Amino acid sequence: MMRGDYVAVAREDELAPGQMKRVKVDGRKLLLCRTDDGWYCVDELCSHEDYSLYFGCIKGRSIKCSLHGSYFDLATGLPLNDPADCPIGTYPLRVEAGQVWVGGEPDPARSVTAAV
Ligand code: FES
Repeated sequence: MMRGDYVAVAREDELAPGQMKRVKVDGRKLLLCRTDDGWYCVDELCSHEDYSLYFGCIKGRSIKCSLHGSYFDLATGLPLNDPADCPIGTYPLRVEAGQVWVGGEPDPARSVTAAV
């Protein structure tokens, strides 16, 4: 696989809204999340203290870290409350042919949001 290629990480019917799955793409540990309004892929680890967001929960279009309670917007990666103050990476995603595909390079929007 070349860097930046899309990789099939789940069947489209594998997750229900509110569920998530740990996936590995291009050596990165990511979290595939399904919400009521679609699919998102973000870094698995919280930007605050590297705790796995897999142990948190999805609320609307955000994910809550269960260690200290920060929420992150799944579309932008931005933290919505303290104590986290850095975004998590977001990754490009496509749903095609009954599969969910994720790109191994962070969304370029991340570098914009990371600079905020
Ligand atoms: S480790 Fe996630 S908010 Fe502290």
